[in-house]
Amino acid sequence: MGKKILVTGGAGYIGSHTAVELQNAGYEVVIVDNLSNSNEAVIDGITRITGIRPAFEHLDCNDREGMHKVFEKYPGIEGVIHFAASKAVGESVQKPLLYYRNNLVSLMNILELMQEFGVKGIVFSSSCTVYGQPDVLPVDESAPIKPALSPYGNTKQICEEIVRDTIHSGAAYRAILLRYFNPIGAHPTAEIGELPLGVPQNLIPYLTQTAIGIRKELSVFGNDYNTPDGSCIRDYINVVDLAKAHVVAMNRMLNALSDEAVEVFNLGTGRGVSVLELINSFERATGVAVPHKIVGRRKGDIEQVWANPDRANNVLGWTAEESLDDTLASAWRWQEKLRERGIM
Ligand code: NAD
Ligand code: WQD
Repeated sequence: MGKKILVTGGAGYIGSHTAVELQNAGYEVVIVDNLSNSNEAVIDGITRITGIRPAFEHLDCNDREGMHKVFEKYPGIEGVIHFAASKAVGESVQKPLLYYRNNLVSLMNILELMQEFGVKGIVFSSSCTVYGQPDVLPVDESAPIKPALSPYGNTKQICEEIVRDTIHSGAAYRAILLRYFNPIGAHPTAEIGELPLGVPQNLIPYLTQTAIGIRKELSVFGNDYNTPDGSCIRDYINVVDLAKAHVVAMNRMLNALSDEAVEVFNLGTGRGVSVLELINSFERATGVAVPHKIVGRRKGDIEQVWANPDRANNVLGWTAEESLDDTLASAWRWQEKLRERGIM
C-alpha cells in the first residue's frame, strides 16, 4: 500500500478531485467528511474513476474524540490535506460564530492530533481572498494581507496564522498553505464535480444552471468597473489542475524537499478573465447560449485579481495546464450529467 493521507472534506468539490489524483499517484486515501455540503455518492464517483474505494468516515472534524479514533483506526497517516470548512461568504456574514467554530476548531483539532500521531505534513486550503483587492497585479505571495471582507475570509487569514504559529513553536511537521484563486470545472469523466446546494452564489454553477434552463438568466454583477470591458476579472483555475498541485505539495513535504517548514503558494493560471469574456468562452466551447443581463455591482466584490503563479511554477514544480474552453466544457458536461441522473 502507498503512503496514507487523511483528506478532510474529501467528499467536497476540491477534496474529491484531490482524492482521485492522490489515488492515481499511489497514495492511500482516508476521507473524513461530515457531509454538511456534500453527498456520500461522491465516494462512488471517486471509486468509478480510480477503481479504488477510499476509506470514508462520516464524521465532523470538530469532534476531537472521533478524530482521535480515526488516527487510531488508520495507523501511519503520514500527511493531512485539510479541506473541511464552511465556505459561503454571504452565510458567514449572517452566522459568523458557525464559521469561526467550524473553520478554526477543526484545524486546531487536526494540528494537535498530527503532533500526537507523528504526522509529517499538512496542506491547508487557503484562498486568494486573503489579498483583498491587491495593489499590484498579478499578485504574488509577498503581497500584504488586507483586512478581511467577511468572517469567512477572516477564518482563512486566522487559519494561516494558526498553522504558522504552531510550526514556529516547534511542531515537528511541515505545512504548505495553498492560496486558490477561482477553482472551476469538473473531472473529465463527469463522475465528480461541484454540487452547489440551493441557488448558486458562484459564477460557474449559476452559469451552467442558466444554460441548461434551471435559471432564467445570469446576472452579470456590474459593467462599470475599471477593467477593459467593465466587468470583474478573476483567475479561473481548472479543478483537476488544482487537485494535482496538492499531490505535488504532499510529495514535497513527505520527501522534505524544502528547507522551509511552512511554505505558501498561489494556485492560479496567471491569466485574468472578465465575467463577459468567460460567458463568451463558455458559449464558444459548448455551442450553448447563456441568457444574461447586466445588473448592479454585488456588494463586497473585488474589482480584479489574478495570480502571479511563478513560485508554484518554479519552486513547487506545478503549472496549470488546462485551457479555459476545455475547463468550461467540463463544467457543462457535469451539468448535463446531473440532469441525466435526475439530480438537478
Ligand atoms: P466544499 O464545500 O465542496 O467541500 C468542503 C467539504 O468539507 C464538504 O464536503 C463538507 O461537507 C465538508 N465539511 C465542512 N465542514 C466540515 C467539518 N467540520 N468536518 C468534516 N467535514 C466538513 O468546498 P470546496 O470548494 O471543495 O472547498 C474546499 C476548501 O477549499 C475549503 O476549505 C474552502 O474554503 C477552500 N477554498 C475553496 C475555494 C472555492 O472557490 N471553491 C476557493 C478558495 C479556497
Ligand atoms: C466570480 C465573478 C462576480 C455570480 C468567491 C469568494 C472567494 C473564493 C471564491 C473561497 C465575480 C461575478 C458571480 C453571478 C456574476 N472562495 N458573478 N454573476 O467572488 O471571485 O470569490 O469564491 O475562498 O472567497 O468570495 O467568485 O464565483 O462568486 O464570482 O457576475 O451570478 O463572477 O461578481 O466577479 P468570487 P464568484
